[in-house]
Amino acid sequence: MPAAERPSVPTPIDRPRRLRRTPALRRLVAQTRWQPSDLVLPMFVKQELTEPAPLASMPGVQQHTIDSLRRAAEQAVTAGVGGLMLFGIPAERDAVGSQADHSDGILNVALRTLKSDLGDATVLMADLCLDEFTDHGHCGVLTADGAVDNDATLVRYADMALAQAASGAELLGTSGMMDGQVAAVRAALDDAGDLDTGVFGYAAKYASAFYGPFREAVDSALQGDRRTYQQDPANRAEATREALLDIAEGADLVMVKPALGYLDILSDVAEIGAQAGIPVAAYQVSGEYAMVEAAAANGWIDRDRAIVETVTAIRRAGAQIVLTYWAVELAERFATGALD
Ligand code: PBG
Repeated sequence: MPAAERPSVPTPIDRPRRLRRTPALRRLVAQTRWQPSDLVLPMFVKQELTEPAPLASMPGVQQHTIDSLRRAAEQAVTAGVGGLMLFGIPAERDAVGSQADHSDGILNVALRTLKSDLGDATVLMADLCLDEFTDHGHCGVLTADGAVDNDATLVRYADMALAQAASGAELLGTSGMMDGQVAAVRAALDDAGDLDTGVFGYAAKYASAFYGPFREAVDSALQGDRRTYQQDPANRAEATREALLDIAEGADLVMVKPALGYLDILSDVAEIGAQAGIPVAAYQVSGEYAMVEAAAANGWIDRDRAIVETVTAIRRAGAQIVLTYWAVELAERFATGALD
């Protein structure tokens, strides 16, 4: 187009691009940062396994034997990861999840082993839920007609809390979405004179398809779904109610789960956490991990950048702590500066 005919465009007065010009400038003005100690590594340990078993739907994640769990935990601590969240897969399951609070149950054995290996070098956490231990795969015990019995489940959670705390768990991840679960666990601990063990409340946990790969990770027996106890993805305000309840019941930290599809929820809960003075976490769940790994394996996205971007987004929305299966990799990349 001849210059005379070109439309005139106004010269911008404000130029935000100035602060994006070089990596050093971008680093200087970055609002969202994280470090390895913000990250928690979820880990799976399976009874009677002789070799670690890779998970097809979560490349790079394994079901551990006790021995491989010890090595992986050591590696995570060395990398500077902030804590470990343990899930156990028992050899035997029954209707009430007996292995969950049995002192020789796999999760409790694993907790004792890591506690004796690591002492206070990390924060040991345990999933406090029955789904890995029940033969029907639900997070609670069932009534005669097959519904999940909220209040009967609380009794089981109280027993589980005592077993996990006695085995060395310092934070108990109440992930079952039963009403009153935080209060039940807190009361059980307090009555036993355990004033130190904390409750990590999965305050807002949604009935999500993104837990799919996790079901492989724990050899889940579940038929059906968890929609009568986990939250409906359509609801936002309910998360506020759940978070306030968890805090009122004595949760020491609260969590939102899943993370990436729920950043609005996370932002709401982060505000509540800030007002209450309670740390807020988010769980980047198995399906979030699998999506990135699968797309990257196909060459469709830049894996390393996508991983950092998702964790940054979760932090930006308000999570102080992020549970992620990439915790060790991220911590190691942080140490070498290989984050871009
Ligand atoms: C319940 C629990 C689940 C996850 C963590 N705790 C499964 C579920 O609620 O169905 C999912 C974690 C993930 O997908 O990474 N014990």
